[in-house]
Amino acid sequence: MLTIELSPKKLEEENVDAKIVLVIAKDLDHKWVRDKEMLIRMGFKGESEEILFMPTSNTVYVGCDSLDTEEVRLAASKALECVKKTNLRSLAIGTYTGECPGQNVKALVEGFLLGSYLFDTYKSKKEPPKLERIVLCLEDYARPNISMESATKALKEAKAIAEATNFSRQIVNGIPNDITPSALASIAQELGELKNVTCKVMDEHFLQENGMNAFLAVNRASIHPPRLIHLTYTPKNPKKRIIYVGKGLTYDSGGLSLKPSEHMVTMKADKSGAAAVMGILKAAATLELPFEIHAIVGAAENMIGGNAYKPDDVLVAKNGKTIEVRNTDAEGRLVLADCLCYAQELKPDLLIDMATLTGACVVALGEFTTGVMGHNEVLKNAFVNASTNSGELSATLPFNRYLKKLIKSSVADISNISSSRYGGAITAGLFLDHFIEDAYKDKWLHLDIAGPAYRENAWGYNPFGASGAGVRANLYWMLDLAKD
Ligand code: BES
Ligand code: ZN
Ligand code: ZN
Repeated sequence: MLTIELSPKKLEEENVDAKIVLVIAKDLDHKWVRDKEMLIRMGFKGESEEILFMPTSNTVYVGCDSLDTEEVRLAASKALECVKKTNLRSLAIGTYTGECPGQNVKALVEGFLLGSYLFDTYKSKKEPPKLERIVLCLEDYARPNISMESATKALKEAKAIAEATNFSRQIVNGIPNDITPSALASIAQELGELKNVTCKVMDEHFLQENGMNAFLAVNRASIHPPRLIHLTYTPKNPKKRIIYVGKGLTYDSGGLSLKPSEHMVTMKADKSGAAAVMGILKAAATLELPFEIHAIVGAAENMIGGNAYKPDDVLVAKNGKTIEVRNTDAEGRLVLADCLCYAQELKPDLLIDMATLTGACVVALGEFTTGVMGHNEVLKNAFVNASTNSGELSATLPFNRYLKKLIKSSVADISNISSSRYGGAITAGLFLDHFIEDAYKDKWLHLDIAGPAYRENAWGYNPFGASGAGVRANLYWMLDLAKD
């Protein structure tokens, strides 16, 4: 495990294997840049994300366009990429305070911890990284030094947020044979050991007794029983009750509307919403946020077999609404429908669901961006703003009356797919809207993380595979809410 420590010493006084120096806005004249001539000779321009290790002075130089928080995060993770194959065990870096003191300390730590995540669970020969510690010297690049107190707070927040993201990544990267619904429940139960956290796990009998037939139908052809997981974090005098609901499809084969094989690979990541809400609750408890927070997970596996639910079936959801199944691959919304009904019984002040819900969302926004939907413009904008500050990309997708008509059914109250091939992310959101009671319409956000949750190529500080999408955005958002 990589440790990050704060030091009151000057960067040059720190006794470490190498230093990291960010070259801000191509400024090679800064006092920390000791190798100007050599850097020029090597063709180093200091462009964003450009890296160069200078062995003669034991310095890792990283280009960074500005003191913008996200630039700093990216630069920190780039620096680690550069030393990954070396035998360096310790590094030191100064601070790069931007507009808000503390913010970039947080960004540096997040960049280091997110960039150092390594998924090697299934490698027979593990190559543990050599780097053990990074010293963050409280000597600033250009501004007065920030206090040890605010740096300590920033470090604590960044650590909790990045570790929760890595926790979430680890769950998502787990293979479907290992992370079954009950295995996911066991992981949740371990979180129940955190201070002020409890975990309840409900089985198929509970789902039956509570009329959660849409959820049950999705899991019917699986050899693994489904689980409804309910984690609760309760601090003293909570300001609000925030309820998260996560799609936890431990595998999505598409069911009888079987996915083509090239689309089936990566569907172990269909539990990313579940992993995110669990990660969020973990960090919230660690940071002792002043909200009562619930993480509700619908854990199921969408498979084929003689017992499978079928296109043409009609399901009765927990709230009594009937759903015509026209495509068994639109299963996430069925599980979420019942879980959202369950969640509203707890009378949330805010209700957020997170799901790898539609390929259409990836088509609409690209692979890097979360789709944000709901009825409350203020809430959506506040979330997008917090998400941007966290370094996660998100954008709102607007509901409209015409798209709403496309999920009408002739045989049941509603169809599980749209009659049009366009606007699929929004029609999926509108399907979920049928399960939101009037009293909660303005308290609800739907986050479609199908794009950023999992990618078979590294990007920014995200390695190959799971990114932990949604964890940082929601924690930044709740930290904002805690200030109100
Ligand atoms: N889990 C998928 C959505 C998905 C696609 C997530 C790509 C991540 C990457 C979801 O259950 C699904 O299959 N949705 C269908 C809906 C369609 C049948 C209306 C889709 O997007 O094709
Ligand atoms: Zn599906
Ligand atoms: Zn799915």
